[in-house]
Amino acid sequence: MRGRFAMRLGVRVRRWVLPLVGAFLITNCTTASTPTDPTTPGPTPRVSSTDAPTGATGMPPSELAVAGIAVAQSMGDDPALKVSVRRPVAPGQVGLSSAIAGWATSAESAFRGDYVANPEAPPELNVGWQVVTASGPVLGIRMETFEFGGASGQTSHRVFYGDGSDTWTGADLIAESARASILARVLAAVSAQGHPTLGPGPSGEPGETTAQDVLSDVTITAAGDVVVLLDQGAAAPHSSGNLRVTIPSADAVGMLSERGRRVAQAVRSGLPYAVSVPSSAAPTAGGPSAGSGGSTATPPPAPPTPPASGPVPAASVDCAVLKCVALTFDDGPGPLTGRLLDSLVSAGAPATFFVLGQNVRIHPDVVARMVRSGMVVANHTWDHRDLKRLTLEESRSEVDRTAAEITRVTGTSTILMRPPYGSYAPQTTTLGQSIILWDVDTEDWKNRSAAVTTSRALATVRSGSIILMHDIHASTVEAVPGIVAALKARGFTLVTIPQLLGSTTPGKVYTRRTAG
Ligand code: NI
Repeated sequence: MRGRFAMRLGVRVRRWVLPLVGAFLITNCTTASTPTDPTTPGPTPRVSSTDAPTGATGMPPSELAVAGIAVAQSMGDDPALKVSVRRPVAPGQVGLSSAIAGWATSAESAFRGDYVANPEAPPELNVGWQVVTASGPVLGIRMETFEFGGASGQTSHRVFYGDGSDTWTGADLIAESARASILARVLAAVSAQGHPTLGPGPSGEPGETTAQDVLSDVTITAAGDVVVLLDQGAAAPHSSGNLRVTIPSADAVGMLSERGRRVAQAVRSGLPYAVSVPSSAAPTAGGPSAGSGGSTATPPPAPPTPPASGPVPAASVDCAVLKCVALTFDDGPGPLTGRLLDSLVSAGAPATFFVLGQNVRIHPDVVARMVRSGMVVANHTWDHRDLKRLTLEESRSEVDRTAAEITRVTGTSTILMRPPYGSYAPQTTTLGQSIILWDVDTEDWKNRSAAVTTSRALATVRSGSIILMHDIHASTVEAVPGIVAALKARGFTLVTIPQLLGSTTPGKVYTRRTAG
């Protein structure tokens, strides 16, 4: 299965080299009157564009949440080759989690094989996920991919299902014998909507569409309708956006496979999601890491650990007088963040955490503890997309969703934001946020060595510095106590960003404290 997905990803990239412009410009939902396919009479499918996209890859975010899902992250913060891959690890869904891990690893390997670092037009891979079905024992996960190859961008998505003992994909919901028929119906419906169609063709040749292309993202509603979400560039040109084809239940029921009927029954039942979790089978990240970014995994939630000592005192410090330096940690919180908090608290060292909104949702206890411990929680967007490639509306959503989640969990608000990869556009400065960059880059994501991270943190640090690290790497967590001790020995006072910079101005970009 891995090979097939990797191959399909690679083929897709080469087949549809289309401009990014308009990638997210989706028209309002419309309903088409479609001619009946002569080969399969019955209720006509409905075609609509998806709602205004706000997710990482143009998909509307799902509000379905499943307790206990952990997250594995593979983050490469190279500004010339941007990689952010996040995938779920679900308790009791070993097969599903491992199928997703295999697919994600293949996708990242294929990306790293296809593209080289390019500072002028950095390639970008962003993989996110959301729950699309959670009923009875059935869990459905949509994996969303945005891939930018240096000249063009491509979104794609696919759904994986599991019920604790069996694992399958969206295409598997449709009986083999019905796939040609459903492909013809989807293409007819898309065509009737006024979109040129690509295909169908029998063999996946360029310009042709196969059932596999069309059926990567198939879900079933409580009413029994089958919803086919088309990749951009699958079935219709890229410029047609994210098309959704709904096949009414009366027509769809005869097309379902046995697995499809299982999903339909689970969704129709309305039962809460419940899968048995063997007591000895706690989820693990499982999947191998790929590329220089490496992987980290989040274990299932554990009871909050008390801090090793009392909170860091919110001492009033005057950085106009003292030699101040701010430690900052991006991309978390993750499974190692609690341990990092322990060491910061015991050293009496406040720090600033630029968190991903989706990770706040997974680890609310850790984020609440940050604030209780005297740390500052700030915004690193929801999906870790390169903000230069998003519209103003999409950028605002990335920032605002995260800000709302931080406030929900901590009761505090912030206008401090660090754009992923330090990459921002002029419009980013209009979002009401102060943009906090850094002047000391440990490159901890790349060196993955406590010794190298330490020497890079200390080599060029000076009064007013902002040091960039990531709390998702074990080597970083290991390095921090030594870095803190060395900075203190040199007479530095460790502070948060608000302590370092004082009141900041929305729209202004800061790399360090520059004036007395
Ligand atoms: Ni980051």
